[in-house]
Amino acid sequence: MCGIYSYYNYHVSRSLQEILDQLFQGLRRLEYRGYDSAGICVDTDDAPEPAACGYGDGDGAAAGNGHAHSLAPCQGSGALDGDSPTPIVIKAVGKIANLEALAAEYVAANGTDVAKVLRHHVGIAHTRWATHGRPTPVNSHPHVSDPSAEFVVVHNGIITNYAAIKEILVSHGEEFVSETDTEVIPKLCKYVYHQLGTKLPFPKLVMEVMRRLEGAFALVFKSRHYPGEMVACRRGSPLIVGVKVPQGKGPLASFRSFSDAYGGAHNSQAIEVWAASDASAVIEHTKKVLVLEDDDVLHVAGGGYGIYNAANRGDEAVPRVLQTLQLEVDQIMKGGYDHFMQKEIHEQPEALLQTMRGRVMFRRPDDEPSAYVAGAASRITLGGLVDTKATIRRARRIMFVACGTSYHACLAARQTIEDLVELPVVLELASDLLDRRAPIFRDDTCVFVSQSGETADTLRALEYAKTRGALCVGVTNTVGSAISRATHCGIHQNAGYEIGVASTKAYTSQVLGLDAKVRALAETLRDSQSLLFFARGSNYATALEAALKMKEVALIHSEGILAGEMKHGPLALVDEHMPIIVVATRDGTYAKMQSVIEQLLARDARLIILCNEGDERMQGYAAGSRCQLIEVPQTVEQLQPVVNIVPLQLLAYHITVLRGHNVDQPRNLAKSVTVTD
Ligand code: AGP
Repeated sequence: MCGIYSYYNYHVSRSLQEILDQLFQGLRRLEYRGYDSAGICVDTDDAPEPAACGYGDGDGAAAGNGHAHSLAPCQGSGALDGDSPTPIVIKAVGKIANLEALAAEYVAANGTDVAKVLRHHVGIAHTRWATHGRPTPVNSHPHVSDPSAEFVVVHNGIITNYAAIKEILVSHGEEFVSETDTEVIPKLCKYVYHQLGTKLPFPKLVMEVMRRLEGAFALVFKSRHYPGEMVACRRGSPLIVGVKVPQGKGPLASFRSFSDAYGGAHNSQAIEVWAASDASAVIEHTKKVLVLEDDDVLHVAGGGYGIYNAANRGDEAVPRVLQTLQLEVDQIMKGGYDHFMQKEIHEQPEALLQTMRGRVMFRRPDDEPSAYVAGAASRITLGGLVDTKATIRRARRIMFVACGTSYHACLAARQTIEDLVELPVVLELASDLLDRRAPIFRDDTCVFVSQSGETADTLRALEYAKTRGALCVGVTNTVGSAISRATHCGIHQNAGYEIGVASTKAYTSQVLGLDAKVRALAETLRDSQSLLFFARGSNYATALEAALKMKEVALIHSEGILAGEMKHGPLALVDEHMPIIVVATRDGTYAKMQSVIEQLLARDARLIILCNEGDERMQGYAAGSRCQLIEVPQTVEQLQPVVNIVPLQLLAYHITVLRGHNVDQPRNLAKSVTVTD
């Protein structure tokens, strides 16, 4: 998890205050990725102009212990050895607002001139979801190599071999101040920088560091030894690059090799570059973005940028295409709602339409078979699966792999897929599949379902399935995500941005006339200690997903229970106090659910029954008893779970608000889980 935001401006005038404000705003956009602490690193002076300089060839052949005067590339702004002065690093526990307040205190206490205009500057920022070490200022990012901050790094991911690297660095006299895995990275930069007998171009130095790192990472670097240069790289964790050339300020310059970066014609050009964990963070500045691939290294210097790949260690840039984002700022705003979760629940009818757009074609009975138009029955075309349809049909089985809400979506869809495709469908929680190294065969079709497309467990499971030769299909809501790129084929949900940590519209992509009634019900449940959801068939997924929502946002202990298992244990929990929500809409399990309700009522259970509108039998249960009803429209059996989950999402939302908890950023969670264990 964690969010990275960095901003580079060259021949573009920005006051230090504007830069700070932009970093804070960028972090706010990424706060859903982690919000237990945050930090920034900025300079107070302009960086020097890049100049032609005598970098070594990087083979480490030169004698001596690096850092040599003669090899210093550029003259800095008054700093020794061409290096820039120590930057300002500010870090705070808690939300971005705390960091902003601390920065304001720092500025006032130090008399920092925030009105000063900087035309060439690198600012980096980070919002953290703690994995190694508690949320404390010292464990927060950016991390520095030493008190004078020769190298400064922000990181998203986990360095799995950090302990071994730390041991080596400690044996060379390095002192660590944090409990994080990340701190090894800036220290390793410094170590490699001083060990090499020649000064490498900054991106090449980063490649040397990457070579020694194991695990998943997206990183942004800044260094006093490379003033005014920004380097970013990724392996396993997401990182996008946004680029902007102010109007009339010349063409966009991209480097063909390392040497292009220094002293080229591009140095007269103006450019702004962002490296961030997610495109939503840069959308208000530019729509021109590219997605870095694994082992890509971005280098920004002067008025241009280059992207290299550490896997081939070549000096030649790799082609990465700038795309134009189809995202508008209002899509990532609350737009009149109090919370993102509320907005996203209410966006579900539109999200469903967008998911179906261009894929569901209807034919009037009297049309030619080839004439498919809106308004009548009948064909679904999933463009991303056209070429692999025959292979999928020949599969021995279809395996769905996902985590959390996405897993529940698979569970809800399983029976429909079994009915339609007539192939065995198995479900796997990604982490469990990996723990068991479960058998996967060449003739399996594995479908990886992920809203974000970057969930680390799902991604690792995908890599595993690929090594077993299975056809890997992706279903994600994020174009360009790791999972959509790593799968052989797939489908994009097109449900629009989901910012609330609790996933809602990605589960469904419905019918919302129940809000006031559900809110009144929430009033009666707000002080509950525990809630149970009983269902069976495809609505077992509804029960699991409703219980997950209740846990993650309302912070109420909750369980989704397969009603067929009720007599085998859970019935012991039933008394007149425990609220129990029973899903009993008209489907193949309806008669069995009636029996479940009878048994619960016989034990004076406090029941809320989710049933179809006008169901007289259910209304009969409710008349004169302590039983309440949530009535939803009836639809075809296969789609009923899609309708059923919505009032339960709303119930979790309203209880959360009534209890005064943070709906969009629940305690201890983050939207994208980009780390495994
Ligand atoms: C659900 O509300 C959670 N945010 C979580 O369970 C989530 O669904 C899970 O981490 C999987 O995420 P993905 O769909 O992005 O892969």
